[in-house]
Amino acid sequence: MDNVSVSRTEPIGDGSGSLYVLEKQSKLPFEIKRIYYITDVASCSVIRGNHAHKQLRQLLFCVGGSCEITLDNGVDRMTVILDDPGKILYIRPCLWREISKFSKNATLIVLASDEYNEQDYIRDYEEFKEYVRK
Ligand code: TYD
Repeated sequence: MDNVSVSRTEPIGDGSGSLYVLEKQSKLPFEIKRIYYITDVASCSVIRGNHAHKQLRQLLFCVGGSCEITLDNGVDRMTVILDDPGKILYIRPCLWREISKFSKNATLIVLASDEYNEQDYIRDYEEFKEYVRK
């Protein structure tokens, strides 16, 4: 699917823990203007997201626990399981996303290319399909 890629960053580990690095150029494809994180999701039946962005680009990874990201371009759907701190999902604009199956203690980190702007959201699925069709 266009506008989605998954990459790996290998930990630097020496027995005292695992250290993960995302560095400019190879691993950070845009300037980060905002970081947010999701924790304490009460139940594995919770579904977050349910929106698309017109311009925003995001990198997502779970530093603890796991969750599933389902992406939809208006035609096809795919699911990426984030269950490893070294697995980095890059989402470019115009993809509907649903975030589900949060494990207990899941911590999802999101690096975003812009500040929060509700005008950049499409929160209605039919509106999203119309937007991508045009
Ligand atoms: P939303 O992006 O819909 O969360 P999710 O996709 O994880 O379900 O945001 C949830 C609420 O938080 C919504 O009212 C907007 C607000 N919000 C901010 O104020 N700033 C932010 O940076 C983000 C991501 C959300």
